[in-house]
Amino acid sequence: WVKMVTAQTPTNIAVIKYWGKRDETLILPVNDSISITLDPAHLCTTTTVAVSPSFVQDRMWLNGKEISLSGGRYQNCLREIRARACDIEDKERGIKISKKDWEKLHVHIASYNNFPTAAGLASSAAGFACLVFALAKLMNAKEDNSELSAIARQGSGSACRSLFGGFVKWNMGKVEDGSDSLAIQVVDEKHWHDLVIIIAVDLQTIHSFAISWRNNSFFCDKLEIRGQRCIVSSREKETSSTTGMHETVETSLLLQHRAKEIVPKRIVQMEMSIKNRDFASFAHLTCADSNQFHAVCLDTCPPIFYMNDTSHRIISCVEKWNRSEGTPQVAYTFDAGPNAVLIAHNRKAAAQLLQKLLFYFPPNSDTQLNSYVLGDKSI
Ligand code: DP6
Repeated sequence: WVKMVTAQTPTNIAVIKYWGKRDETLILPVNDSISITLDPAHLCTTTTVAVSPSFVQDRMWLNGKEISLSGGRYQNCLREIRARACDIEDKERGIKISKKDWEKLHVHIASYNNFPTAAGLASSAAGFACLVFALAKLMNAKEDNSELSAIARQGSGSACRSLFGGFVKWNMGKVEDGSDSLAIQVVDEKHWHDLVIIIAVDLQTIHSFAISWRNNSFFCDKLEIRGQRCIVSSREKETSSTTGMHETVETSLLLQHRAKEIVPKRIVQMEMSIKNRDFASFAHLTCADSNQFHAVCLDTCPPIFYMNDTSHRIISCVEKWNRSEGTPQVAYTFDAGPNAVLIAHNRKAAAQLLQKLLFYFPPNSDTQLNSYVLGDKSI
């Protein structure tokens, strides 16, 4: 027999960034962070985990290619979930697995990302969150999502925030074993449902993702522009987050100032602006934190450059427009890559933003704008 579970987990985008570890093995951060979980219909990982007495070793395939599970991060997640496995019984199919059996049984894992891996779009976040969630279901672990987030964290720090929808906070925690370094939901996906998130995923397409993602098809919008040039890159980034943040911790004095003096206050302000749906304050904090994260990267020796000229032009475009409107309409944030994540106040602002971007980045002669559609309404 084979028993299988399939799970789907969206990625998340930090609005207060995690950058720097105080413990690299347990993946414990130097500051709290806050993120938005995206709609799983768009940027997500789908993972199937299977167990069978005929499997002779743990194996994993990522986007159809077998990868090694020998790395510490996979081993940590597998070990932690196995330690929490419980009895299962499927009478219909005559499957009975006791807590003890799980130690001897092996799993096969197949995982797919529907977006570019390692292009600074937090693929590891969705990947490890999905892996841990699927394994927990397969092995009948009873832990809640916060407890599971502390396991996903050991796969990739940002993964802990993908166990929840809406806005999510990763508490850095205090204790040495990392048991209090876990994610909690700040507000659910319905709380601020008129936000529209636009992500540049490749050279041909812009997708927009609304924050709401459970049973709310109205907000599961897909917005597509063909023939665009303002999209930045789906190439793999040159410095991985893990290596980059290690070098920053080793060399940047600015990081220490950020972690001690800046982020704790920003976290409080960000939680307030989210709870009050105060877009002006939210946009100010989001942009400032993204810029400080990239300043910290520049303060690293040798400096790390994640953004490129197009990223800088997108920032100028948004800053100019926000200033001309008097009150911000759009926030931008960039992770460890050049791709812009733009968060618009509402659908009208999203539509206006796209017009601005088209003006800034007119389609070249080889490409042409076909149409762009927000949900069921053309704009
Ligand atoms: C810039 O979670 O990818 O996206 O813990 O080493 O796996 P590891 O790093 P990772 O770092 C993400 C960094 C970031 C900011 C964020 O998501 O908070």
